[in-house]
Amino acid sequence: MLARAQTFTIDGLQARPVTVEVDIRSGLPAFSIVGLADAAVREARDRVRAAILNSDFEFPARRITANLAPADLPKIGPGLDLALACAVLAASGQIPGAQLDGHGMFGELALDGELRHCHGTLAVAQASVSAGVRTLLLAPGRAHEAMLLEGLNVKAVQNLKSAVRVLHGGSPDRIPDRPALGRGQRDDRGRHDPDLSDIIGQHHAVRSLIIAAAGGHNALLSGPPGTGKTMLAHRLPSILPPLSRTEAIDVTRIHGIAGHGGGRLITHRPFRAPHHSITTAGLVGGARRGWIGEIVLAHHGVLFLDELSEFARPTLEALRQPMEDGRVAIVRARHSAVYPARFMLLAATNPCPCGYAGEHERCHCNERDHARHRRKLSGPLLDRIDLLSHLDRERGVTGAVALTDSRRARARVIAARELQAARFATEGIRTNAAMDARLTLRHANLDDQANHLLIACQDRGSLSARGQHRALRVARTIADLEHSTRIAGHHLAEALAMRPDAALAGGRTVVVA
Ligand SMILES: Nc1ncnc2c1ncn2[C@@H]1O[C@H](COP(=O)(O)OP(=O)(O)O)[C@@H](O)[C@H]1O
Ligand SMILES: [Mg+2]
Repeated sequence: MLARAQTFTIDGLQARPVTVEVDIRSGLPAFSIVGLADAAVREARDRVRAAILNSDFEFPARRITANLAPADLPKIGPGLDLALACAVLAASGQIPGAQLDGHGMFGELALDGELRHCHGTLAVAQASVSAGVRTLLLAPGRAHEAMLLEGLNVKAVQNLKSAVRVLHGGSPDRIPDRPALGRGQRDDRGRHDPDLSDIIGQHHAVRSLIIAAAGGHNALLSGPPGTGKTMLAHRLPSILPPLSRTEAIDVTRIHGIAGHGGGRLITHRPFRAPHHSITTAGLVGGARRGWIGEIVLAHHGVLFLDELSEFARPTLEALRQPMEDGRVAIVRARHSAVYPARFMLLAATNPCPCGYAGEHERCHCNERDHARHRRKLSGPLLDRIDLLSHLDRERGVTGAVALTDSRRARARVIAARELQAARFATEGIRTNAAMDARLTLRHANLDDQANHLLIACQDRGSLSARGQHRALRVARTIADLEHSTRIAGHHLAEALAMRPDAALAGGRTVVVA
């Protein structure tokens, strides 16, 4: 007898529909699975058999063949267990086959028949809606994640017995009031992000962080050890605008597939801070099929690279294309995929290998050390960084006060982002940082003083075309923070002072790059 059940497998950042076909005929008892199944799917045979027997059903002592269609799509993970078990029960006449129609199933079976939730529930729910599945059977722990989508009937089933009951038209199990937290997960409600008011002094660096957040600019913090670079960076999430509903669904889906989501909607922007020992594959993805890199996990959020000069140069080089395109194309011998990766880059570094450049008596680096340090950073990333700020010891001293707190800074950031959203409503971008040369010039709207300043810089030859566009983008954001439609002289002057290439040209002693 033949039976079919509908399930899903994760392919990159999507879930794809899989039809499980089970055929049972006479012959020596055997259970084989065909259709590009990975090890976890092949092991389903043992789980399914034990779960069926331990749920007081009969496991047919005949020749069972399960085919996973489409045959050319690799099936990964244990999420197909429930559909396999139900198809075996239907093919052996223990459930009427017609009952499976219109139902999707996703979950791993324990040997006692208990249903365990799997990574990627939100992606599965999205695929269910587009595949026309009316009812999705899931473990109770992830039902909330699937219920974020409208138009899908989600039924929680605790075990195989409950699933069979639901397929017979019985009632599903209770969905817990609150989504279960994953291992190592914090409850986000009442979560307390570190606050900007903890930063004493370093006002210009705090200010540059606010400008970066307001315009979505990539920023670099440079300074000797212990001046608060890492501390400041960790306060960036507290001043970023919240995710929109569509962005939140995107982020929840991606993190759900990576196994981070706790079954609830993620509303804060991701902040990823990989250690500098990370490999290129770890950063961009593609170590194996379906591997999600840090830059994809940072989508719609922040990628923070602390101790930037310690990262391997090829790893930093690999960031170039994703930062340009907002997505990463991965091509490996056996698979290829394109993942979204639109993030804001924040980096921190010492100004030289020993960290004390500029303090003559303390810095032990020679000219070659400096040159090496400079080379390491300049090529791949500096092109894409709009803002550079230096932290130093004198500016963060006792007696100094905090520039602002996160609540006030965030309100200004959100107001500036709203101006940008209105400005770019028809342009397909959201932030000043994403303006190309044409948009930069169109929206510059310089006043006389700013115009003179720009011309003076050009005459002096101290401003390349790229440097000019970069300064104008930042100046646009500074003006937006003040709700000014025109870029005034002091806006542009501040932007020029934070240009990384100005520092490169030797404005200060030794700089990051
Ligand atoms: N501006 C500052 N305001 C308050 N505390 C600071 C400041 N700068 C440094 N600190 C203190 O010094 C510690 C080390 O700072 P950190 O951010 O790790 O420095 P860096 O990354 O620049 O080496 C912080 O945890 C904090 O306690
Ligand atoms: Mg640090």
